[in-house]
Amino acid sequence: MDKKITYGSRYIDLREIKSDGDDVLIVGGGGREHAIVKKLRESARVGDIYGAPGNAGMDVIETGIGATEIDKILRFVSTHDNIKLTVVAPDDPLSMGLVDKLAAAGHRAFGPTKAAAKLEWSKAYAKAFMKKYGIPTADYGAFTDIEKAKAFAKNGALPVVVKADGLALGKGVIICNTREEALAAIDEIMHDKKFGAAGNEVVIEQFLTGYEVSLLAFVDGQHYKLMPTSCDHKRALDGDKGLNTGGMGAYAPCPAFTRELLEVTAKTIVEPTVNGMISEGAPFKGVLYFGLMVDGDTPRVLEYNARFGDPETQSVLPLLRSDLYEIFDAVIDGTLDGIDIEWSDKKSINVVLASGGYPLGYKKGCEISGLDKLDNNVDVYFAGVSRGENGFKTNGGRVLCVQAMADTFAQAKKYVYDNIAKIEFDDCFYRKDIGSKLN
Ligand code: AMP
Ligand code: GLY
Repeated sequence: MDKKITYGSRYIDLREIKSDGDDVLIVGGGGREHAIVKKLRESARVGDIYGAPGNAGMDVIETGIGATEIDKILRFVSTHDNIKLTVVAPDDPLSMGLVDKLAAAGHRAFGPTKAAAKLEWSKAYAKAFMKKYGIPTADYGAFTDIEKAKAFAKNGALPVVVKADGLALGKGVIICNTREEALAAIDEIMHDKKFGAAGNEVVIEQFLTGYEVSLLAFVDGQHYKLMPTSCDHKRALDGDKGLNTGGMGAYAPCPAFTRELLEVTAKTIVEPTVNGMISEGAPFKGVLYFGLMVDGDTPRVLEYNARFGDPETQSVLPLLRSDLYEIFDAVIDGTLDGIDIEWSDKKSINVVLASGGYPLGYKKGCEISGLDKLDNNVDVYFAGVSRGENGFKTNGGRVLCVQAMADTFAQAKKYVYDNIAKIEFDDCFYRKDIGSKLN
């Protein structure tokens, strides 16, 4: 049966009603959210899925509500009794307290409270937290006074890393090789306010060497379950050149990260973080993302995120064999210790197709072709897309993410790159070296 819903002045969609099961609202509209939705659809307990906003390729009921339109989201959930779960995926609505507000109104929401999400939305808070609980991370100073920040940057070893305290789309981190660069970075962040209020405070920290790993965990306040490790590629161009982006491709698991390293990380980082947040009176419930730098056999925390990573999720979640809806339930109810979570041991890899110019300016509205020619051995996660006359058009910097899994990375990579070659849109670019060192 066709269903037509209007919300405010917006027209929502026409689609089949899946009458059984609980309806879900997903907050966000990128590739990560698409991967969450796809996995939720595998659950027999899930009915219709709504998006705030979702996107044209995700196949959700689009509400026309943006991810940070907190009051509208609250109203929407309050007037749709069939929605039994809201999944808050992006950082902004978490930092605005959406989960707290939904919970206060009696709704089930997946994600940390504003107080727990502070591990992501304030780097100064995260660093002070790590120092207090002895969690390994780079040495640092945090400053709200520009002159004190500059005085600190004039001493100490080089290179040095200057970070805006608040959320800055992953762009508020500047690696400085000279003191002049460090002073200029402090000016950009604190004086010119390049990242707005996110730059009211800066963190200045020691540069760490090694390799980077993303470790994500489901956390229910008290218990945690680790997901397979993954490895993002943040720079825009091959060979880790070009500007920092939201992420251009990721693989999972990360072969260099051994079982021993995992055990060390659980003991020295994950457990003290989960327990520390209980001591702080802000138990963490949701997905906790540890951005790690591994030097030999020592992992250190570069950053926390209070959510699934993008594009790590598009490689990690396809490996999940258990019911994601049940996991979300267990996280909300604090019963994660009572369930087993199973993962495939296949190798998973994804590559992001972006609009030329990203992460700076780029064109929108270019027709995307070739999606109908893709093989069954890949999945496509939609991000910056809208509806075109004959299919989809580009509507963002990161447009699509093509993912595959196989017994070997070599095979998964071949599936991905063979299929990417069939997709076209104006100015499309992607990295050719994702997982290039893996077999
Ligand atoms: P963050 O958002 O804090 O994870 O920083 C973004 C990226 O900057 C990281 O993924 C690293 O590549 C790099 N980075 C951040 N902090 C450091 C550090 N202390 N040493 C070396 N690289 C860093
Ligand atoms: N891929 C990095 C992030 O989601 O923050």
